[in-house]
Amino acid sequence: MSESKKSFNPDTWVRPNIRTLSPYHAARDDYHEGILLDANENSFGPAIPTEQPLHRYPNTRLDDLRQKWARYRGITLEQVFVGVGSDEAIDLLMRVFCEPGRDEILTTPPTYGMYKVAARINNVGVSEATLTPKFELDARAVLSRVTQRTKLIILCSPNNPTANILSMNEIERILIDFNRLVVVDEAYIDFSDTGSLCHLLDRYPNLVILQTLSKAFGLAAIRMGAALAHPSVISWMMKVKAPYNVNQLTADVAMQAFDHVDRMEEHVRSIISERNRLQKALADHPDVDTIFPSDTNFILVRFKRAQQWYEYLASRGVIVRYRGDQIHCENTLRITVGTPAENDRLLEELAKHDAF
Ligand SMILES: Cc1ncc(COP(=O)(O)O)c(C=O)c1O
Repeated sequence: MSESKKSFNPDTWVRPNIRTLSPYHAARDDYHEGILLDANENSFGPAIPTEQPLHRYPNTRLDDLRQKWARYRGITLEQVFVGVGSDEAIDLLMRVFCEPGRDEILTTPPTYGMYKVAARINNVGVSEATLTPKFELDARAVLSRVTQRTKLIILCSPNNPTANILSMNEIERILIDFNRLVVVDEAYIDFSDTGSLCHLLDRYPNLVILQTLSKAFGLAAIRMGAALAHPSVISWMMKVKAPYNVNQLTADVAMQAFDHVDRMEEHVRSIISERNRLQKALADHPDVDTIFPSDTNFILVRFKRAQQWYEYLASRGVIVRYRGDQIHCENTLRITVGTPAENDRLLEELAKHDAF
């Protein structure tokens, strides 16, 4: 570990008002069993026919779920925060570490749009160091944009919308040279042959990894995401989060996810096989310029006439995402890999070269 990392203490970067915060304390934090008359719940039960105890507030710490997530990724419970999608973790990190009206985050466009939206909502500035035209991370360019006000660098790997994994060497250079938090969003990591950076958490206390059950696990509806980080970073996030942020139905389903990893892996294999099929089919398309390599469940494709194809496909009931307005993504569509039947329909419509 470098000198700077040995002396790194995430507590020193927490906003002063958060450092002195007394978090909300529920009686249920101390007692879980007995005659529960502490939380103004409805003791007569839910007003719908159900066997589930939906009249009770959920557990605030969700240790069982955090333990399962930790075991799956080879880390400890204290390194796991679970929340309402990874979007909640992005928002919380800004609220814990960035002083509104003064601090800023640094992102690497083209990338996931929520980082900027969350920053704007929190009145936090956004500084940008673009990826290269080949969508590669340039650590030197990123570090040259850092100022005293930069509190979080947010990287996305594999990246959305470009679909590529970022170089681990470049990420490590940033982790070593930037002495505040480096967030790596791994929403799509299970589609990639390159594994998660979780093994680096013990080496770099300034690393925060975001993961989600919305993609490879196919559970976008339940809204469940995680931040994996140094126990001190996690404990600050736990202090600031809403007491009952994750609902019980979500927590129950999320627990099951880690009992069915084989099913997730089977879906991932099918998606990758369909992704390969789509890439091959599109390679012969006269209006396709470039099919970018993908480590995700989507592909970014450069067309000669992306906007027209986008509108035509939508008019035929096939909805893809136009990304041509993003830097280095001129004339591109981002296409999520569908089921074999959905992909057949897409290819059928794309075969109509004289459609417009
Ligand atoms: C890179 C990236 N991170 C996070 C998310 C959102 O994840 P969640 O559903 O857990 O909020 C998305 C969704 O598209 C994404 O592309």
